[in-house]
Amino acid sequence: MRRVLVLGGTGWLGRAIALNALRTGAEVVCLARGESGVPPAGARLVRADRRDPGAYDALSGDWDHVVELSYQSDLVEPALEALADRARHWTLISTMSVYRRNDEPGANETAEVLEPRDLSDYGQAKVAAERASSARLGDRLAVARAGLIVGPGDPSDRFGYWVARLHRGGPVLIPQTARRYVQVIDVGDLAEWVSTTGLEGRAGVFNVTGSSVPLAEFLTSAAAVSGYDGEFRSVSDEWLLRHDVHYWAGPRSLPLWLPVADAGFAQRDNTAFLEAGGRVRPIAETLQRALDDEIARGPLRPRRAGLTAEEESDLLRLRDDGPH
Ligand SMILES: NC(=O)c1ccc[n+]([C@@H]2O[C@H](COP(=O)([O-])OP(=O)(O)OC[C@H]3O[C@@H](n4cnc5c(N)ncnc54)[C@H](OP(=O)(O)O)[C@@H]3O)[C@@H](O)[C@H]2O)c1
Repeated sequence: MRRVLVLGGTGWLGRAIALNALRTGAEVVCLARGESGVPPAGARLVRADRRDPGAYDALSGDWDHVVELSYQSDLVEPALEALADRARHWTLISTMSVYRRNDEPGANETAEVLEPRDLSDYGQAKVAAERASSARLGDRLAVARAGLIVGPGDPSDRFGYWVARLHRGGPVLIPQTARRYVQVIDVGDLAEWVSTTGLEGRAGVFNVTGSSVPLAEFLTSAAAVSGYDGEFRSVSDEWLLRHDVHYWAGPRSLPLWLPVADAGFAQRDNTAFLEAGGRVRPIAETLQRALDDEIARGPLRPRRAGLTAEEESDLLRLRDDGPH
C-alpha cells in the first residue's frame, strides 16, 4: 500500500490533500499538533510539535509521498533532515508571493524570486523553504507555487465575500474594474493535483493557479451565480483609500482588489501546471461552491475579510453625496 505523509493535514488545504490521498487508496498519516483541527476520517494523526526534539521519531519506514505545508525554517529543515532520505517524492506547498515583481503580466516560473533575507516575511521564508528542499531532494521535489486558494471552507473569507454580498442583494460597492484581474485556484483542484503529482512522481516548479479573469468578468459571473440583478456602484482607488478601505484582504477591505500596478500578481502563466495534468474547473463552478459554502456557514456571520453591511451602506451614502 502506498504511504503518504502530510506534514500538516489539520488545516484547510492540508486536510483536502489528505482526503484526496485517501481517495487514491493510500495509507495517510498527518503529523501536526492537532491545534488547527483534525485530519479527515481514515487518516492517522501523529501528534507532535515540530519544534520539539524527536518530533519525527514516531514516523517509521519509507514514504511514497511527503507533502510539506509549512515554510518556517525551524519546521522545514528538521523535517528534511529526518525524512528526505526516506521519501520517494516530496511536494512543497509554496506560493505566488515568492516572486519579486507583480508588474509583469504572463510571467512564468523563471521570474525572479525574493532574496530570503528576512525569514519573518512570508514570501521570503517560502523561498528559503524552496531552496532548502531543492538542495536536499533534487529531482524528487515538486514545488507547488499556489495562487489564491479558494472554495469551500476558506478560512480567509476573501473570495466568498463577493458571492455572499451579491446573494444579499441591493447596490454593491466595487472598485473600478479596468486593468484588474482575478486569478485563483479551487482548493479541490489544487489538492487533486498534489495527489496525482505524488502518484506520478512529477518534479519541478509549478505556478498552480487557474486562468486569469478580468475583474469585470469575475463580477458578472459572481452575479450570475448569486442571482444578482442589482447595481454595481464603482469608486476610484483614491476614494476608497481616503475612506480607509483596504486592498485585498482583512477587515474593512474589498477582497481581491489590488493596485493596478500589481495586476501581474493575478496574471501569472500557468502553462507548466496545465501541461502537468492540472485541472482548472470553470470559475462559475468554483463560485457556486463558494456560494453554497457561504450559505451553509451563514453569509451574515462576522468575516475576516470585506466590508460589513453597515460599513458598506455608510460608504455608499458618502459616494452618492459627492465626487468619487
Ligand atoms: N490561502 C492561500 O490563498 C494560500 C496561497 C498560497 C499558498 N498557501 C499555502 O497553503 C498552505 C495552507 O495550508 P493549510 O490550509 O493546511 O493550513 P496552515 O495553517 O497553513 O497549515 C499549517 C499546518 O501545519 C501544522 N503546524 C503548524 N505549526 C506546527 C508545529 N509547530 N508542529 C506541528 N505542526 C504544525 C498545523 O497543524 P496544527 O496547528 O494542528 O499543529 C497545520 O496542519 C500553506 O502552505 C500556505 O502557505 C495559501
